[in-house]
Amino acid sequence: MIAFSSVSLKKSKIDMLAVPDCEDLDIHKNPHLKKMIAAASALEEYGGGHKKQVMLLDPEGTRVRRSLCIGLGSRDDFTPDRLRVFAGQAVKAAMKAERKRLVIAVPEAKPLGLTVQALLTVIMEGATLANHAFNRYKSTPKSKPLQRISLLVSASTAKRYKHLIPTVEAICQGTLRARDWTSTPSNDKIPAQFARSITAAARSGGLKTRVLNEAQLKKNKFGALLAVSVGSRNGPRLVELEYTPRKAKQTIVLVGKGVTFDTGGINLKPSAGLNTMKIDMAGAAAVAASMIAIAQLKPEHRVVGLMPLVENMPSGSATRPGDVVTSLSGKTVEIGNTDAEGRLILIDAMAYAQKKYKPDVMIDMATLTGACVVALGEKIAGVFSPDDGLARDLVASGESTAERCWRMPLPEDYSDLLKSDVADISNMPSTRYGGAITAALFLSDFVNDTRWAHIDIAGPAYTKKATDYGGPGGTGFGVRLICDWIQKL
Ligand code: BES
Ligand code: MN
Ligand code: ZN
Repeated sequence: MIAFSSVSLKKSKIDMLAVPDCEDLDIHKNPHLKKMIAAASALEEYGGGHKKQVMLLDPEGTRVRRSLCIGLGSRDDFTPDRLRVFAGQAVKAAMKAERKRLVIAVPEAKPLGLTVQALLTVIMEGATLANHAFNRYKSTPKSKPLQRISLLVSASTAKRYKHLIPTVEAICQGTLRARDWTSTPSNDKIPAQFARSITAAARSGGLKTRVLNEAQLKKNKFGALLAVSVGSRNGPRLVELEYTPRKAKQTIVLVGKGVTFDTGGINLKPSAGLNTMKIDMAGAAAVAASMIAIAQLKPEHRVVGLMPLVENMPSGSATRPGDVVTSLSGKTVEIGNTDAEGRLILIDAMAYAQKKYKPDVMIDMATLTGACVVALGEKIAGVFSPDDGLARDLVASGESTAERCWRMPLPEDYSDLLKSDVADISNMPSTRYGGAITAALFLSDFVNDTRWAHIDIAGPAYTKKATDYGGPGGTGFGVRLICDWIQKL
């Protein structure tokens, strides 16, 4: 729970206070805060360096019990994301110290070159995102989220900017929701369960929901999607979430890859590759959680979320390498490799989306290729789009949210690598080089004139180690990115 507070450091009892400090710049007006920073700086182990921390007890002239000074680094190195990192570090320290409440001192916006709105937003984001732990399977929780986080601002600032709180909460709670879904083990999120979990949350958020089951998918000829799910006892689902405002300007369709576990199928993955494959539904989690946030943000556009959910298993009923299937679009696909399953479920969902919703823009998010992780590492997503403006806007949203995206090419001549001798196209390229690109080109073959972008989140969807404002596990990557992009449309 985030709030603004205008209490006096001198008069009000504060259990724990966090104070950001810039190495070579005065960012606080309050004399008590200035004194705390001076006291911290007098300690040789501190100096306002980035991520440095020092705890002062009972700072003089105040009723503050603990004051944690945290360095932002130098003015030249400052980025707004450093304030998310600061707030995240502060919340994590308070959780570790088993506090229930934290007060965060807000610096002046001007010296940092920010608007007040941007300043408050990033601090609230870092704090909200860090205030979370995935405790579902722990008999005793690893750590408990704080009950209340207050940003110390003047009464007039509090009044003027209080509208920011529900917006930041809606978006960041979306990220936390996507994280939890992604961190959930696959035995508790088979497609039917995951579909129910999504629709339950979406309905209470006011979205229109619809779920297609296996029989309905068969009847509607989702041949590519069914080719993936047929090896599993756990049947597939297609979840549709819809937000429609009164006078919608554009129709946006978001599609998220929802492979609840990816064994690779008959082209079974080696052990090392299997470990983390519960996260192969992170795209669906991000789309579903974005939709729930969008219902609260109430943009002027109609937004539809589509989540094809399947489990990719090897079995006596599984699809074989070399099989040919007819996708929903009518095009035939040779299954050169059953581990290239994400693209199969996405093309049917995208064909369905284009026919049913005639979107002005369609964006898919997917943990699609290991090759994208090789290309961009574990923190940056690949953006593929033939539309320069759309790619530019997504990369820009990546910059403002620190959910970083890098545009990748869609070279037409590489499409030859997907030729099949027997079918219209193969799901397996003839070379392992450029795997993220050939996967995106495969998808592009099923996109007609629709403005479209594909975001490969295989790297940033998951983190083994805790980050500056998140724990280990699912990261919820994509929710803040998509919400930012939609808010700027
Ligand atoms: N789910 C994987 C991609 C992946 C890899 C996600 C690592 C997260 C971390 C995807 O279904 C896959 O197996 N892709 C293959 C494609 C290949 C068979 C053409 C890959 O990347 O090797
Ligand atoms: Mn796979
Ligand atoms: Zn996969």
